[in-house]
Amino acid sequence: MTTTQSPTLGAAELALRGRANAVIPGGMYGHMNVQAFSSAHPQFIVSGDGCRVTDADGRKYLDLMCGWGPVVLGHRHPAVTSAIVDQLGRGDCLDGTSPVAVEFAELLVDTIPAADWAMFVKNGSDATTTCVTLARAATGRAKVLVAHGAYHGSVPWCALRGAGIVAQDQANLVHYEYNDLASAHWAADEAGADLAAIVVCPMRHDIRREQELVDPEFARGLRALADRTGAVLILDDVRCGFRLDLGGSWEPLGVRPDLSAWSKAIANGQALGAVTGTDALRDAARSIFVTGSFWTAAVPLAAGLATLHRAAQGEALPASPPPEPGCAKDWPARPPATVSRSAKPVRCRCRCSPSSATSSSAPSPRGPRQPLCGVSISTLGTTGSCPRRTPTTTSTRSCSAPTTPSPPCHAANAPTR
Ligand SMILES: Cc1ncc(COP(=O)(O)O)c(C=O)c1O
Repeated sequence: MTTTQSPTLGAAELALRGRANAVIPGGMYGHMNVQAFSSAHPQFIVSGDGCRVTDADGRKYLDLMCGWGPVVLGHRHPAVTSAIVDQLGRGDCLDGTSPVAVEFAELLVDTIPAADWAMFVKNGSDATTTCVTLARAATGRAKVLVAHGAYHGSVPWCALRGAGIVAQDQANLVHYEYNDLASAHWAADEAGADLAAIVVCPMRHDIRREQELVDPEFARGLRALADRTGAVLILDDVRCGFRLDLGGSWEPLGVRPDLSAWSKAIANGQALGAVTGTDALRDAARSIFVTGSFWTAAVPLAAGLATLHRAAQGEALPASPPPEPGCAKDWPARPPATVSRSAKPVRCRCRCSPSSATSSSAPSPRGPRQPLCGVSISTLGTTGSCPRRTPTTTSTRSCSAPTTPSPPCHAANAPTR
């Protein structure tokens, strides 16, 4: 946050801290404890509106943190608020899953080329943990490769630090260095025949170090390593998801994960996460038992639907992002459109008119939705224009292949943590 006012704490903030110290361990815990930040950083925020938040003393701040990641459309975005209020009118934590879960799963499957199915959880740690459980169920193996210093959540199997974590919690982790393919191969050798999964973030965004884009060769190399060893490639898109590319952060590289973990921006601030995966892992997904008291909550799902619809209209992630000085040049050039996963070819994600779509868009069992275009990206030519495109006012997608991925400045909506 950037303050334009006097950098001292106000009386209301100090009073709240005093009360919190008496009844909350440490006055606050986790990243919500602001002790590590500047002495003027307020711990309590009373309200938010668009890109601004207000502290307990009525001071307004420009929110460059985006609520630590989730708020991708701005605080209290009218479309999301309206979806929340609408769903609240019908109820939230009901005795069964709301139909909105099916609608949102359909939207995710339509939006994310590497997704044949979706499951919903409550946060990013749930999502990454579910991915790892699922990978172990699918492979019958235990070891998991993770990058040194990468954050995948605050649960014992992957927590980076903190009292109460014992060696056994992380005994099945083997570390590699981000963007160092040789180190990933050594780690895979160490895991041997017990390698269940390779977990990787779309870019390096470790705590207290410069962010670093992924080397496309590294991404492709991890895909090949997973294929060779029979391990599951898990993309932890919790932080970057819906910020770099709506279809998945490695989609512009032509590298598809087997499983993806999503959260943060998925519902513009409502508690929600998701796991998406390929058909090959559908049975394993069915076999694991994951649930929680609040997993039937419908309000976050309704918020997620509204958020993703708005994001697809270019509100969060411009279809053609304007170049920003010193930013676009840092993004690696789009590689030749090769697909490293043969099972599901890279599809054009526009919604051409059904009449112009070919047999690849068989009638959907889901009713009146327009089928995805299905044109292979490799047939899109140098301009990336879809030959089947028929302009339609209802289309919300660009028909162009994403030849220029969003520059990292947009990703930097993604806060560090
Ligand atoms: C890459 C990544 N994975 C997982 C998580 C955990 O998400 P959550 O804090 O919602 O449990 C985070 C949180 O910052 C994250 O950045």
